[in-house]
Amino acid sequence: MCGIVGYIGNKKATPILLNGLSQLEYRGYDSAGISTIEKDKISLMKDKGRVKNLYDLTGIDSLEGTVGIAHTRWATHGKPSKENSHPHMDNSNTFSVVHNGIIENYNELRAFLTDKGYNFLSETDSEVIPNLIHYYYQKENKKEKGSFLTAFKNACLDLKGSFSIAGICLDFPDNMIVVRKDSPLVIGNSETENYISSDIPAILSFTKKFYFLNDLEFAVLYRDNIVFFDKNLSIIHKECQNISWNASSAEKNGFDDYMLKEIYEQPTAIRETIGFRLQEDGTCNLDELNFSKPYLSLINQIYIIACGTAMHAGLAGKVCIEKLCKIPTQVDIASEFRYRDPLIDTSTLCIFISQSGETADTIAALKLARSKGAKTIAISNVIGSSITREADYCIYTHAGPEIAVASTKAYTSQIVLLNILAIHLAEILETQDPKIISNLKKEILQLPKKIEETLKCSEVIKSFAKTVYSEKDMFFLGRGIDETVAREASLKLKEISYIHSESYPAGELKHGPIALIENGVTVIGILTDSTLVEKSISNIQEVITRGAKTLIITNQNIENSMFDLVVKIPQTSPFISPILSVVPMQLFAYYISKEKGLDVDKPRNLAKSVTVE
Ligand code: M6R
Repeated sequence: MCGIVGYIGNKKATPILLNGLSQLEYRGYDSAGISTIEKDKISLMKDKGRVKNLYDLTGIDSLEGTVGIAHTRWATHGKPSKENSHPHMDNSNTFSVVHNGIIENYNELRAFLTDKGYNFLSETDSEVIPNLIHYYYQKENKKEKGSFLTAFKNACLDLKGSFSIAGICLDFPDNMIVVRKDSPLVIGNSETENYISSDIPAILSFTKKFYFLNDLEFAVLYRDNIVFFDKNLSIIHKECQNISWNASSAEKNGFDDYMLKEIYEQPTAIRETIGFRLQEDGTCNLDELNFSKPYLSLINQIYIIACGTAMHAGLAGKVCIEKLCKIPTQVDIASEFRYRDPLIDTSTLCIFISQSGETADTIAALKLARSKGAKTIAISNVIGSSITREADYCIYTHAGPEIAVASTKAYTSQIVLLNILAIHLAEILETQDPKIISNLKKEILQLPKKIEETLKCSEVIKSFAKTVYSEKDMFFLGRGIDETVAREASLKLKEISYIHSESYPAGELKHGPIALIENGVTVIGILTDSTLVEKSISNIQEVITRGAKTLIITNQNIENSMFDLVVKIPQTSPFISPILSVVPMQLFAYYISKEKGLDVDKPRNLAKSVTVE
């Protein structure tokens, strides 16, 4: 996730761009850069580090340009460095471009352009874009009206993946061109100047009038006009919308709290985590790992080690790893693992999951595993975090910064990544029927759309939350993979609503916990596994008989009448069903917390990153 901002008008662009970048820093902050059109050249100033470093770059104060683009980066391809920072320019220094997203076919495009004589200065996927624009520009009649747009459009239609892109061209000093696909970009409009940004808040102090592009729509920005095009370059009409947010709601993109914003960001987060790793043609790619079949054949056990929500993601990961790779897999809590002298050796593969990458127990557990000779993989959301530096291998979720203490989008993107890892290992080991793997890949690719569909349950969950928010205890039940979601749902509720809750495997209830069920107590059942649904329903009937109020989250066709509320979610592969079934549970905890008037984003006694033991 990166931040983009751009300006075209009559004022000096640089101060406006720097201001916008500071507000976009939550989207990424490992490097930043800025390009403006000056008298006879495009200036390019960029560096590793925070946006504030740009203020110290020699010459930045003397930039006079009134057209410019800028970027703050969250590294995906290539480490944080000056070379890998945006903007990127083509070899002839005619075009400067900023990009947010992932270009899945950049290797192919880079090889094509290298063959045509282009050089690359960075390790990024993004640097192919300005060079590809230049390639098409050369083929067209340069400098003719419309040729920048045609070249820009041709280049963008060659890109696979997600992108929002803004470009400027030395030969067209009064234009800026933008496009988006599966990646955010808004256009802010005022009479004599126009703005672009990855989100509304960064430019809200300049204008309240906004245009929103659909996928593969292009906009050419002039100082006093904006022209919109579809992907065939036919002119289209777009309605301008007035945004009436105040400053504090703006920071959260219009949401009341970061947690709600992050719940709603899950389709994008999952899309970015899948990125180039899983492609429509079925290719599964985990370049970060270089495991061979002989090495993997020696692995006789896998450990997944983490804390809290990350550990719950590990529980879901265990199911797919065991089923696809046929390797016994255990999930352990890092603070337990580190002190119990676990039986691991060079035939053990240990996977450590941590959103922040700074959790003290997880880091200590990782060091222990390494000292015993196990190979270690870190799964983290934060580039360059401690866990990623300690592990032998590192794979990143690309969920974007998670600010609310209660983890939401990190959990779902961790499960996606664990499934992709399981597929990758199973393909090397040839341990699963290719048809099952191929079906899972298709289901993973459909997840962003299905999460969007699931989010539609928000209002009905909100109403139910209003009826139960003052209760003292709640119970979450499930079997198989649904039991792992029950644990996560129970943790979410405790964390932000301070209601005591327990999660149980549904079949375990009668062995003791059912004694706690009394008239009016709320029991939530998660029922997505078709092979276990009947059994879970029987267990839930047992609590209904004892007076429980029930909420059911399911993708099965069940008889609704015996439950107080049934929330239907889309069907998917059982391996990834937690990614959908957890969404109503996140919303449930959120709305209960709101109803109680609590601080959702900063619950009492908790910290986002637990860097102490
Ligand atoms: O940064 P990490 O993923 O290592 O954090 C682990 C837990 O502290 C974290 O998941 C915690 O349980 C969250 N507050 C859950 O919402």
